[in-house]
Amino acid sequence: MSPVTVTRRYRFCAAHRLHTDHLTSEENRIVFGKCNNANGHGHNYVVLVTVESDVNGGVVDLEQLDRLVNDTVVRRFDHHDLNGDPEFARCTTTGENLVKLIWELLEPKLPNQRLAKVGVIETRDNYFEYAGSAQPAGGSRG
Ligand code: NI
Repeated sequence: MSPVTVTRRYRFCAAHRLHTDHLTSEENRIVFGKCNNANGHGHNYVVLVTVESDVNGGVVDLEQLDRLVNDTVVRRFDHHDLNGDPEFARCTTTGENLVKLIWELLEPKLPNQRLAKVGVIETRDNYFEYAGSAQPAGGSRG
């Protein structure tokens, strides 16, 4: 039986610049295009957090989830430069890396609900999604 999930939407505004010191300036320009612009740019990020319902009660405590996501994710990134975040010291601030980081920040802090998926909408046309690395093939999860 597939689990029932609940998805909540959160928002934050942040600046970033796609750039890596592993590449030359020219290579950075080619790989990241205008996102490599030295002045950076901003996005109104939308974060979609999907949790599985509690196996015991079947009810997700949305207030608790909101508090957790606001404290752990929104406050950390809202009106910040993502490139200045310590977690991005060694990787670029791509949507892929951001959605994985948000997963890694939230997953250990969800005691009663299982985090099922994190989505990040970066622009009108860019959506990133991560559901964790450990997905057992069939059988019980968790
Ligand atoms: Ni960007």
